[in-house]
Amino acid sequence: MDKFIITGGARLKGSVRISGSKNATLPILAAALLADGPSVFVDAPDLADVRHMVDLMEQLGARVSRDDEGRLHVEVADESNSHAPYDTVRKMRASVCALGPLLAKRKYARVAMPGGCAIGSRPIDLHLRGLRALGAEIELEGGDIVAKAGRLKGAEIFLGGPFGSTVLGTANVMMAATLAEGRTVIECAACEPEVADLAGYLNEMGARVAGAGTPRVVIEGVERLAGVCHRLIPDRIEAGTFMMAAAVTNGEVRLENVRPDHLMAVVDKLRQIGAIVESDGPALVVSSSRHPATADVTTQPYPGFPTDLQAQLMALLCLTDGNSVITEKIYPDRFMHVAELLRMGANIRKEGPTAIVTGVKRLIGAPVMASDLRASAALILGGLVAHGTTTVNRVYHIDRGYERIERKIGGLGGHIERVGE
Ligand code: EPU
Repeated sequence: MDKFIITGGARLKGSVRISGSKNATLPILAAALLADGPSVFVDAPDLADVRHMVDLMEQLGARVSRDDEGRLHVEVADESNSHAPYDTVRKMRASVCALGPLLAKRKYARVAMPGGCAIGSRPIDLHLRGLRALGAEIELEGGDIVAKAGRLKGAEIFLGGPFGSTVLGTANVMMAATLAEGRTVIECAACEPEVADLAGYLNEMGARVAGAGTPRVVIEGVERLAGVCHRLIPDRIEAGTFMMAAAVTNGEVRLENVRPDHLMAVVDKLRQIGAIVESDGPALVVSSSRHPATADVTTQPYPGFPTDLQAQLMALLCLTDGNSVITEKIYPDRFMHVAELLRMGANIRKEGPTAIVTGVKRLIGAPVMASDLRASAALILGGLVAHGTTTVNRVYHIDRGYERIERKIGGLGGHIERVGE
């Protein structure tokens, strides 16, 4: 298992290109199961989760290759196997978004039920409720969800749950509805840009999806979809992570390939704590020359502050002159990074889904353990600003969702090295 050795203290300076969005790529690759003919994906990031999704697509009969320019070519060659086994799903929960496309296109899907993960229990009841409303018969057999249907039928579906809507649940139902007979209306749909990007790809293939990116999505079913070339949106979470890296190191970083309109809540929060964020054409420039000010933040569905940046913001708020309150409204248990930040000298008290972060003068380098993707990113940020050396163990978590992070940080002048055990 690789680890990162980080020597803190360098101010990050320079320019970094943000990769295509992981969370847009995963369901969009699954959507290629709906297509007749090949699709090409431009700017699909080369990271472990995408490679897992490619493995799954190959198991499901797709031929997938990456060309010299980094584009992914996907074409379904054989529709005989519609089983996503537990071994694949447990490596990556997003495998569950094969369910909707398989059911709509092949009338049958067998997908292992995902278990919980380091950020809490993550049910998929809303996905199943939506697919049942479209006419699927769904049973659980030996830990697998077995879904069958004739041609799906459009329906009115409410997708709200105890924590708001569901991103991959909306994706699953939207994908299934594209080939259903008649009109489907999804109320309380997730509004995340990744859902809108998926709808963009579906529409380019000939689907009729309206309203994606708003809470009401209307889908008129069509008979067939044809593969096309699609460019993925930039990864707003990777962008947010580098924005916070610039702020925490008092650096100055120019981010290329970003969508500022996808980052409004993050820009707002960074300005509140005293960072300077400016647009420069299509790029964003983030700089800071002072201690961060305190801020209170509650994670929310888009366009609110994303849960996927909560841990990174916490690392930043560890260095203020007072108290900040972070409330996690999407995954109440997503606080595995707290104990590791405490090992670096942070002062954080957790009360249920809330963490009270009292700023300290400095963090001190220490060996720490990555527990999940975004927690690992927070520990890297802590390491970049800590006095001394930080060792982040188990970096396979970070490799799941960040493309070449150590090269990108190194290119900005940060001292980070990957070492094998
Ligand atoms: N929920 C239910 N029932 C469901 C589905 C979800 O109660 O059927 C609850 C969840 O437990 C959670 C909330 O609804 O409390 C939102 O979960 P959602 O379904 O939206 O999460 P997801 O679609 O499984 C995606 C991202 C996550 C990101 C969340 C929230 C992908 C591949 N994953 O997951 O990304 O945190 O949306 O924005 O798109 C990450 O990239 O690190 C990551 C975890």
